[in-house]
Amino acid sequence: MVVADAFQEALLRVMEQKTHWAWPGFTQGLVPKSLLHIHLEQEYATYVRDFPVLVARAYVQCPHPEVRRDLAENIYEEETGGMVAGRPHPELFMEYPRGLGMDLRRFQNIPLMPAAQAYRDAIDNATLHHGWESAAAVSTIFIEGTSNERAELEGTARKNPPPLSEHPLVKHYGLSESHLALTKAHRSVEGDHRLAAWRSLLGYAHPQCYSLVIDHMKRVLSAWLAYRDEVAHACGLVQGANGRPVVAA
Ligand SMILES: [Fe+2]
Repeated sequence: MVVADAFQEALLRVMEQKTHWAWPGFTQGLVPKSLLHIHLEQEYATYVRDFPVLVARAYVQCPHPEVRRDLAENIYEEETGGMVAGRPHPELFMEYPRGLGMDLRRFQNIPLMPAAQAYRDAIDNATLHHGWESAAAVSTIFIEGTSNERAELEGTARKNPPPLSEHPLVKHYGLSESHLALTKAHRSVEGDHRLAAWRSLLGYAHPQCYSLVIDHMKRVLSAWLAYRDEVAHACGLVQGANGRPVVAA
């Protein structure tokens, strides 16, 4: 169906833009360890802490039982870890700052920086007020997905991820692999969640809502890019002449 194909293509193009110039600075250890907490705190407060609720917003608005079942499975795993991880995913995320010796009290009341707040506002708008399709797209595809969605969808994504010893937090910041519980859980479950997300959206979203969903995805993408600029700068990175991140002078 041509219209559905164009919908999928538009969504994939949004996802292919979910890349940020500063990310290699985080994965190659350029960010000083003393500033890394800013990144983890803002990630936690913009979406990690509330991710099960964001998916649940799609669930309560969805009239299709088949889609609700997939969403319920995702919510259950994220909220409880009952199927794979053994603990709630937001709790497992906290193993990163715990293992890095950060002050965990900071995570109890995190003031969002301005662009982080705008990103969260865009997420809230898309997930609360515009139907299950926008809520599902933004939570289960944009937030949970990566720029590699096309390969995931086509089944050509890399099957063997790098060893945990190569994880940037282990390699550059001295995190023990025992604190990578969330990384391990995601490796075993999130691929299934995202395939289910695509199956739901492509199979059940009404063509009348396609443009609304694409519009929300684009708004969330542009808010995310500004949010990542803000975090990069706060973590001491600027964009060098070659477009790559460098440590601010
Ligand atoms: Fe998760």
